[in-house]
Amino acid sequence: MTRRVGILISGGGSNMLSLVRSMTGDHPARPVFVASNDPGAGGLEKARGLGIQAVAVDHRPFGKDRAAFEAALSEAIAPYEADILCLAGFMRVLTAGFVEPWAGRMLNIHPSLLPKYRGLDTHARAIAAGDTEAGCTVHEVTPALDDGPILGQARVPVLPGDTPGTLAARVLEQEHLLYPAVLRRYAAGDRTPVFLPAPV
Ligand code: GAR
Repeated sequence: MTRRVGILISGGGSNMLSLVRSMTGDHPARPVFVASNDPGAGGLEKARGLGIQAVAVDHRPFGKDRAAFEAALSEAIAPYEADILCLAGFMRVLTAGFVEPWAGRMLNIHPSLLPKYRGLDTHARAIAAGDTEAGCTVHEVTPALDDGPILGQARVPVLPGDTPGTLAARVLEQEHLLYPAVLRRYAAGDRTPVFLPAPV
């Protein structure tokens, strides 16, 4: 049975694009919507350009009321009846009230080798720590931030002279390979983690 995939974004949506483009042919899933908390997110138009339904629920009018924002987001995406929800550069913290109904059905990509560097500024923190490698992780989403079972990782070297920007670009290339590889496996019911070889 083909799995229906929804994707949540906050920005340019390059990971969203890599996921959407991967879901063709014998892939066990198809994209059914892209949604953003930011009506200005560049990824929304890109999704529409690929024929994907794209909706925005602006978080700002809700202020600190996360539950109310999440209720509005849930209502907006409900009609698409997604089986799997992929967070792809979605920059709002989600409460347990939103996460729990999606337990075992929601994935996130995070730009660090979890459990290192949960939260923000991952690349700057890796450089400041003197790490020689960095990378990205796809994991199942649980109510704890950037936690949950790891479904895949890709590693890159940290090179002399790297800035957070140069390191982010190197990691992002791997994100675009890792997330589709994990989703394909996950949508087929296989939760064995994917570990990509370091690029040469
Ligand atoms: C990606 O690097 C993703 O890993 C990161 O935001 C970027 C979004 O880029 N996500 C997080 O930091 C989540 N905490 P994109 O919009 O081009 O996919």
